[in-house]
Amino acid sequence: MPRQSSTAVPHTASVGISIANVSKRYGSFNALDDVSLNVASGEFLTLLGPSGSGKTTLLNILAGFATLDSGSVRFGDVDVSTLPPHKRGIGVVFQHYALFPHMNVHDNVAFPLGIRNVPERERNDRVRWALSLVQLEGLGSRRISELSGGQKQRVALARAIVFEPSIVLMDEPLSALDKQLRERMQLELRKLHEKLRSTTVYVTHDQREALTMSDRIAVMNKGRIVQLDAPPTIYDHPVNSFVADFIGESTLMDVERIHEGCVRLANIDLKPARPVPDARRHFLALRSEKLVFDDEVDGDVNILPGTFEDAVFQGESMLWIVRLPNGQRMSMRRLANSNGHRVLPEVGATVRLAIKVGNTVVVQDE
Ligand SMILES: Nc1ncnc2c1ncn2[C@@H]1O[C@H](COP(=O)(O)OP(=O)(O)OP(=O)(O)O)[C@@H](O)[C@H]1O
Ligand SMILES: [Mg+2]
Repeated sequence: MPRQSSTAVPHTASVGISIANVSKRYGSFNALDDVSLNVASGEFLTLLGPSGSGKTTLLNILAGFATLDSGSVRFGDVDVSTLPPHKRGIGVVFQHYALFPHMNVHDNVAFPLGIRNVPERERNDRVRWALSLVQLEGLGSRRISELSGGQKQRVALARAIVFEPSIVLMDEPLSALDKQLRERMQLELRKLHEKLRSTTVYVTHDQREALTMSDRIAVMNKGRIVQLDAPPTIYDHPVNSFVADFIGESTLMDVERIHEGCVRLANIDLKPARPVPDARRHFLALRSEKLVFDDEVDGDVNILPGTFEDAVFQGESMLWIVRLPNGQRMSMRRLANSNGHRVLPEVGATVRLAIKVGNTVVVQDE
């Protein structure tokens, strides 16, 4: 294994990334608007956001494929803002593999070692090591065209990590794969990261993927980072309506702020999980799996009475649709095996739902 080889390319210890006040304009359009972000050494950080939010632009700036208009990027103590890509010592996985079709698997993976003048013997050792990490042992002589999508993706990954870069950047590396393979690769990438501990910046617009893989998530919208937190905090405490809506399955309902400890929804007073600051507009962000029947929970809860409207079978779970007195609908997710003792009520029957105060998330307008 290369780490133990005496002739190994010196392994650069993992370094952190500091992005300070970075802006990037295309004409009059702000692709990145004063972005600051520190990625800790060895961290797996995901940039998550809708199409056009600036994720690839930020990744390209880190990689050196795009120039910044203002601000700076440092890797450890080194300002790399103006360094060309090949001098940054990073491994990059692009959205569409970007493999060399005329080379076989081995030569694709060996490519970054060739340009670093790694001697042939060590080169072969490292390629073997990288291919085994991505579970492609023995496929070195295969042509790229003879690989499945998932295998190509692994070759791209092996090529990015073969020289043990201190920083790995990945732009939607799994987007071309089907759901099953994507989920398997997510876990594999996570395991690989635990082994290598390279500082990793990962781009996706798939919120579940981000929640699964990341130490922290930077949620982006319109060229800005709107929230930077660990996955459970992003999920349970979104900072505004954009994040609440983008992550997970929520129903957003307009509520009136009575004071910081009370909001009103359809004449029902609710106690929020956290003090509600004054703002233009407030929403209750109701996650369907946090709603229960009022007899299933005690302690500090808010009660939401309504009328039963429908139940939708979704395999592992059932979605109950309940209408509030003001006509708004909310949905409650019930795991299939927790439905046993609940007979579906008649349409229009009164049901009393409850949500713990700790889960009563009130967000402001963006
Ligand atoms: N070379 C360019 N010239 C002009 N506009 C650009 C250029 N590159 C990106 N943009 C614009 O900058 C914005 C951010 O683009 P970017 O590629 O960073 O988005 P993204 O978050 O990666 O989106 P996606 O999820 O679709 O990949 C978009 O509105 C895009 O049209
Ligand atoms: Mg992109």
